[in-house]
Amino acid sequence: MSNQHNQEKLSSARFSESTDAFVEAFTASIQFDQRMYRQDIQGSIAHAKMLTKVGILDDAELQSILEGLAQVQSEIEAGEFNWSIQQEDIHMNIEARLTSIIGFTGKKLHTGRSRNDQVATDIRLYIRDEIDAILPELTRLQQGMLLLAEREADSIMPGFTHLQTAQPVTFGHHMLAWFEMIKRDVERLQDCRKRVNTSPLGSAALAGTTYPIDRAYTAELLGFERISENSLDGVSDRDFAIEFTAFAATLMMHLSRFSEELVLWSSAQFQFIDLPDRFCTGSSIMPQKKNPDVPELVRGKTGRVYGHLMSLLTLMKSQPLAYNKDNQEDKEPLFDTVDTVRGSLRAFADMIPAIIVKRENTYKAAKQGFSTATDLADYLVGKGLAFRDSHEVVGLAVAHGIKTEEDLSEMSLETLQSFCDKITEDVFEVLTLEGSVAARDHIGGTAPNQVRAAVARAKALIG
Ligand code: ARG
Repeated sequence: MSNQHNQEKLSSARFSESTDAFVEAFTASIQFDQRMYRQDIQGSIAHAKMLTKVGILDDAELQSILEGLAQVQSEIEAGEFNWSIQQEDIHMNIEARLTSIIGFTGKKLHTGRSRNDQVATDIRLYIRDEIDAILPELTRLQQGMLLLAEREADSIMPGFTHLQTAQPVTFGHHMLAWFEMIKRDVERLQDCRKRVNTSPLGSAALAGTTYPIDRAYTAELLGFERISENSLDGVSDRDFAIEFTAFAATLMMHLSRFSEELVLWSSAQFQFIDLPDRFCTGSSIMPQKKNPDVPELVRGKTGRVYGHLMSLLTLMKSQPLAYNKDNQEDKEPLFDTVDTVRGSLRAFADMIPAIIVKRENTYKAAKQGFSTATDLADYLVGKGLAFRDSHEVVGLAVAHGIKTEEDLSEMSLETLQSFCDKITEDVFEVLTLEGSVAARDHIGGTAPNQVRAAVARAKALIG
């Protein structure tokens, strides 16, 4: 670090010795916050236009700033921008380069603002952009789920509780359970966007500014729905970043649960599904292996997003008002959260509609474990037994089946009648898997026609 460089620092006049080289690197954020260059330039354009509107800059100065910023942006996008640690962060790097291009006028841009409201504005714009990129990916995932649910509306598989065979369900119904989770994630993200979309610009360092700024105008130029009501809160609030990360953590939790099932289902023990080869890899030593890498990785990546949520909560918990340098630590967790969510979503949206369901296997599995025992109990209630008594009768029949290795549907009428003489020939209709799922024929039930109706409603919802 040369002294020459250090004298260029915007804050240098107050200091009598140069920043320690290590401290300079330690306190810099340019290595990672350069990612927000577009939002930073967007914010500066709005600020400059506002300064012109209220008479602080003239039209020629505005023109020069706009052209200078356009050049900065193209240099960055061409990979020609010389990022400087001495200029600490994205805000000062851009401003310094602007001033070196357009001269004196560049130094006027920072009138009536501070990096504190500038960075708060940049992060909000950044998260809003990412939300607008994530929402269509969530829709694409939902569309894939609906495609699979519709295709497998009649396919029967065992439904589990405690990972023990419970009752038969349709595969489509199972898929729609995942759809509902993602639907709530979408709602959470849309709701989060409302609070993200607030303009802190004009809060300046912490107390507002003495210039006659027009906050509503910058907010409008930047597409913000409202302006923050308190300047101290405006520069220090990071709730919106926490909310976004909480959305992300919840989404990842859902994708991780889903992943767990995909891993189980594609195992040799279950053989419920085939994941297309392009989502799997082999083993370097065991030639027979086809590993479900994508779901495993998504399950594994969930932990880092939880970690980021905890980082951001902890980052904020002891900060007095207003801005503190601590806040610079919000960016890396946020950026990694965005990368992790976007990568995981893309993989899932590609993979889900390509899942192949091995219908004979899921059907066979549903036949094991006495999955229609509840149907027999309900049948006996229909014949006049109290539910607790019918539960007892069916328990005896199941105990018999375990001994003789017969499913309830495979027992003779005489055998079944030996447990309860109210059982007649029509019992076999309820003991079949098809009869069992078809009987659960109400909104939220597993019957194939309910699955199709739910798919139709869902399609109307997501458009
Ligand atoms: N790089 C800083 C951040 O990320 C920008 C704001 C710095 N403000 C200040 N007064 N040091 O938060």
